[in-house]
Amino acid sequence: MLILGIESSCDDAAACVMETTRPGAATVRANVVANQDDIHRAYGGIVPELASRNHVVTILPVISRALESAGVSLRELGGIAVTRGPGLVGSLLVGLMCAKGLAQASGLPMVGVNHIEGHLLAPLIENEIGMPYLALVVSGGHTALFAVEDFGQYRRLGSTRDDAAGEAFDKVAKMMGLGYPGGRVIDELSRKGDPKRVKVPRAHVRGAPRDFSFSGVKTAVATFLASESGRSTAPADLAASFQEAVVDMLIKPTIAAARELGAGTIALTGGVAANARLRARLAEAGEDEGFRVVAPSLKYCTDNAAMIALAGSYRLLRGERDPLDIDAEANLRL
Ligand code: KG4
Ligand code: ZN
Repeated sequence: MLILGIESSCDDAAACVMETTRPGAATVRANVVANQDDIHRAYGGIVPELASRNHVVTILPVISRALESAGVSLRELGGIAVTRGPGLVGSLLVGLMCAKGLAQASGLPMVGVNHIEGHLLAPLIENEIGMPYLALVVSGGHTALFAVEDFGQYRRLGSTRDDAAGEAFDKVAKMMGLGYPGGRVIDELSRKGDPKRVKVPRAHVRGAPRDFSFSGVKTAVATFLASESGRSTAPADLAASFQEAVVDMLIKPTIAAARELGAGTIALTGGVAANARLRARLAEAGEDEGFRVVAPSLKYCTDNAAMIALAGSYRLLRGERDPLDIDAEANLRL
């Protein structure tokens, strides 16, 4: 079955054509993303109104480009999978309305997908992974540990009590005047820095070994920046020290959850999974404990439509479809 995936939950408009024969076994025939970093950079963060207005302009060309480069016409598709939440409601509506229009015009079945389910299943795009596996989802909006037990069966084992890890990266980058988006800039700058140069406290949630907290580390960096030594410390050293603290705070609960779940594989996913230090350190820590550690290619870590097509594929393969009056849900729960 050929599936068209559509994603527009935040600031990326994306479309994908995926070929699949059974749940989890997929070949990506085309994967297109229109990124809006240049538009939001001037504001130091995502402006929701600008994100949705730009999606209106780019979504159809992005879909056409995906179909063209896969060499597939709408008539050859077996179904459409589209993100219906969580995310920015204006952004979500653009992709969802577009999917509904295409489904109505073509008669194709359409399914609405939870964006987080997309991230959880993204590691399957390029890897065979036995279930259950443990997924650490780290993005701009989410930081959580899930047991992926089967397609459609997910159990939350832990999550952040305050900020998401990506949010901490973005806010610290903004404080340091490093620009936007912050995660990638800190990742690159840190390669030239000493992670031991600045003492950044590691926060752990008492009595909840699988939960995370990132607001304290952000405040610690703000306090340090305002201090005398903050003004004389090389930005690369501060970036590396901050990043190392975040990585430590992500790894400890992940290993605790993996031990508890007893699964063989830890899958790292979401935008922050693109972080080189996190990938290296988690691979090392996981393998020391006897786990296989899998992280998708960078293009499947950050928001993309391939993960949405994959997350919709098992329902489409079963012959399911959603009614065309489903709504976008900004706070959709998994
Ligand atoms: O999954 P994603 O594209 O969008 C959300 O669903 O949130 O994740 C975006 C987040 C941003 O906070 C961005 O700063 C972070 O992922 N990010 C990174 C890196 N690349 C993107 N954080 C750390 N290191 C990176 N290399
Ligand atoms: Zn995401």
